[in-house]
Amino acid sequence: MSKKIIVPIALGSIVLLASQLPINIDLHLLQSRGAVVQDYEEPDYGLGPSHVDSLLPFPDLEKGDRTPFDLWRYAGKGKSSFMDPNLPMEWEEWLAYNSDRKSLVMNEVRAYMESRYDFLGKTHEGKYMSGGRKAIMKGPVSRLPEGIKSFEELCELSPEEIRRKNIFPFKPLAHPIATTAHMVFPDEWNKVHPEHIRIDLDHDIPDQYLPEFPPPMFLSNHKELGDVTKGVEVTLSNYYEIFNGLLTPEQMEGLKELLRPTATTWFNHTTHRITEEPSAGVSCFSCHVNGHTNGAFELGPDSRPNLARLRVGTPSMRGNYNLMQLSSKRSIRSMDHFAEIEEYFDGDPGFMQAIGPRGHQKTVSNRMGDFNAMLDFPPAPKLGPNGKLMATKANEQELFGEELFFGKAQCSSCHYGPAFVDDYMHDLQVERFYIGRPEGPIKTFPLRGIKDSPPYLHDDRLLTLDDTVEFFNLILELGLNKEEKEALTAYMLCL
Ligand code: HEC
Ligand code: HEC
Repeated sequence: MSKKIIVPIALGSIVLLASQLPINIDLHLLQSRGAVVQDYEEPDYGLGPSHVDSLLPFPDLEKGDRTPFDLWRYAGKGKSSFMDPNLPMEWEEWLAYNSDRKSLVMNEVRAYMESRYDFLGKTHEGKYMSGGRKAIMKGPVSRLPEGIKSFEELCELSPEEIRRKNIFPFKPLAHPIATTAHMVFPDEWNKVHPEHIRIDLDHDIPDQYLPEFPPPMFLSNHKELGDVTKGVEVTLSNYYEIFNGLLTPEQMEGLKELLRPTATTWFNHTTHRITEEPSAGVSCFSCHVNGHTNGAFELGPDSRPNLARLRVGTPSMRGNYNLMQLSSKRSIRSMDHFAEIEEYFDGDPGFMQAIGPRGHQKTVSNRMGDFNAMLDFPPAPKLGPNGKLMATKANEQELFGEELFFGKAQCSSCHYGPAFVDDYMHDLQVERFYIGRPEGPIKTFPLRGIKDSPPYLHDDRLLTLDDTVEFFNLILELGLNKEEKEALTAYMLCL
């Protein structure tokens, strides 16, 4: 009853207020202006040299223009949130422009990557990824700054000193052409799927440092089978044979949709594309091959301007059933939601009309989620039911690594439980070590099966597990010695 009385009074007060407002107010919007602080002065919020005013404004670039490798130095607002589904030139011109430039771009990319990494080609002796076919690379391969002889020596410096001297070896990695951006597939993938070769760019990390291809697939409802694919890449043409009799018809439907290519930005049948020939596009498993990852990278869809979007490597889908947060920044809560959103690559639903991509109904995306939920982590034969190493199976170094992980090295404060993940986002405040735009909170990634999914961190900047140990030792200021760091890597190889 009381509602009926309040409504007319409230309406009356709007009319009354409006009649008192100056004449230039947009009455038709029926919304008053918001409050504005007089003589606004912005506090620093403790950001110091990472504050927007101390960084460079983003360059104003066209689609296809080369972008700086040190994109972390830039900050600010872009011209528009919306992207144009048309090319800035005719198709023939676009093709020639990109193809002519490609070898030049790749020379620059390789020189840059060489300057950051020492691709030693060393492996962890006798250690292989779960399929048993690909050796695990040994690091650290991140190059030390000039004049610093070891990571131990670097760790003696304070974050401020490292920032002042500009010698942080783990700065973010950028997409080399962030104006066009979108997915860049590994060479090994392109050899089998030439329709994904770009006219402007190739992958920047040697295949040796990427996941095994094709990777094995483990199902949580058929542990006894091991790799259900038996060394084969699952495609639309073979999935039925492989999975008939193993999955429910519902899960089969979901798998089929994960395998069905659909048009996407830059990989489609229109001229808004980055491949010579038009194509049917990509499928979920074009990056998440066999429910894992092939190491293709992209730009995170969570920001504007385009140049502020962080590079993101493809995470594995294995064990997603145990994760509450999906994607590095947006904390999407369900796999079904993930499967539903095609515009998730660019965060721009406007493209859907122009390119005609996937627009799944909820029933279909639910089924994709249902299949996703069966993808298991790889076996970890040394881990017991409580997630701890079994003393009878692990060696001394591995057990020492576990002790450090749960103790001195503090890893377990964020990586714990059956998937070694806390399901929170953390702001690691890496910008304490270099002058640049802070990356803000990023989700913790699970460490179960971690040996199978190099390169590491959301943007692939760490190529080996040894590099991740050096990274955390530095940013958490742990002061671990060489022996302790090696033990931590040995432990992670067991997970
Ligand atoms: C370009 C290759 C690519 C394709 C194709 C692709 N993904 Fe992804 N996927 C990614 C990348 C990169 C991320 C990380 C995104 C981020 O951090 O914001 C991701 C993240 C995810 C995640 C979250 C995983 C995690 O651990 O946080 C799920 C689930 C997922 N994708 C499902 C799908 C589904 C379903 C499809 C098909 C509709 C699909 N992906 C197609 C590259 C791809
Ligand atoms: C404060 C929480 C926190 C602590 C402590 C922590 N991590 Fe992490 N870990 C994260 C976050 C957050 C990420 C993702 C960061 C990113 O992508 O930028 C991550 C990523 C990783 C990755 C890469 C995962 C992937 O899939 O790319 C590895 C490996 C890792 N951590 C190992 C460790 C080790 C070893 C320690 C202890 C020395 C440790 N972490 C301590 C939060 C933490």
